[in-house]
Amino acid sequence: LFALCPQVEGAPFPPPQFRNCRSLDGCCPPVNRKPPVPFQLPTNLPWRTRRAAQLVDAAYIAKYHRAYGLMRALPNSDPRSLYAQARMHCAYCGGAFYFPNSAYPLEIHDGWFFFPWHRMFLYFHERILASLIGDPTFTLPFWNWDNQSPIAPLGNLVPRYMSEAYWNRRPNPLYNRNRNRCALPPFLIDLNSGVGCVRMSSARSILTENNRLMYTQMVSGATTPSLFHGSTYRFRWMGGMGGGTLEGAPHGTVHIFTGNPYAKNPYDDMGNLNVAALDPLFYAHHANIDRLWEVWKGMGGRRRDLTDPDYLRSQFIFYDENKRLVSVSVRQVLSLRNLRYGYQRVANPWMNPRA
Ligand code: C2O
Repeated sequence: LFALCPQVEGAPFPPPQFRNCRSLDGCCPPVNRKPPVPFQLPTNLPWRTRRAAQLVDAAYIAKYHRAYGLMRALPNSDPRSLYAQARMHCAYCGGAFYFPNSAYPLEIHDGWFFFPWHRMFLYFHERILASLIGDPTFTLPFWNWDNQSPIAPLGNLVPRYMSEAYWNRRPNPLYNRNRNRCALPPFLIDLNSGVGCVRMSSARSILTENNRLMYTQMVSGATTPSLFHGSTYRFRWMGGMGGGTLEGAPHGTVHIFTGNPYAKNPYDDMGNLNVAALDPLFYAHHANIDRLWEVWKGMGGRRRDLTDPDYLRSQFIFYDENKRLVSVSVRQVLSLRNLRYGYQRVANPWMNPRA
């Protein structure tokens, strides 16, 4: 009976092997002959605080620019390069990683691996940036698009806008060619639809709508672990069966909103998973998603992480700042305290939306 219904048999995902990668987008990472080393919790790292992009100071912005400048200068063949990391994201989401004994490729989106996989991906991205500038305290900023408050301490860097640090033209290493002009001030982000150009003058209803969407996805619609994290997904199952409350909107809408609708491949880069992580903004976007996971856990009730052993024991592999392949289990990344970083406290106005 098991042979007829392979889906009833559950197991955790073993670390994928690059030699079993097949990608139409050319996303397969170079085959590595050495097996991955198991991830060790970073007991020797200082505590780091990821700050809101609209609240960082000039000294931080200088470091941030330097780090991406150095990352961009690495050859594409270097696993620490922005290009190689974007390819890795593509491989994990493009149905590219196959397993010898499973009919289905691995898919880390639209299911319960969405939060932990992206936390791992950002963790190594941040370690690479930190090592390139020789500053172990360096962190990614978070793009605070859920915060609809009209004034921010840095003048024109209103939280719901994309911070100006991302927009200045070259030689700014944070600049990305393919972005939506409507994602620039004075236009507003629409967390609900992800398309269109909304002017400040029609802001009131959009701001209310954004707050209500956040309330639904974080509070009223996300009262249990499985609502928030998405569908159960075990080894040998078909993936992508349904994301948690944040994954479609606001996560997906922010992606699409940021991509260029007039690119040759519409909505490149941020709006398409195969190239999204080429844009440095990807990592600030996902830092906010990662922060919202933590905010959700702190809201009480039944809002706790999943405890299914197949989930906890599933493993993924990444290149670290020393170009070593590392395997990480989901269990290892559920506590930010263990990873020794946290988020700057900011207002989450959507928690009590005015009707
Ligand atoms: Cu892996 Cu925001 O997508």
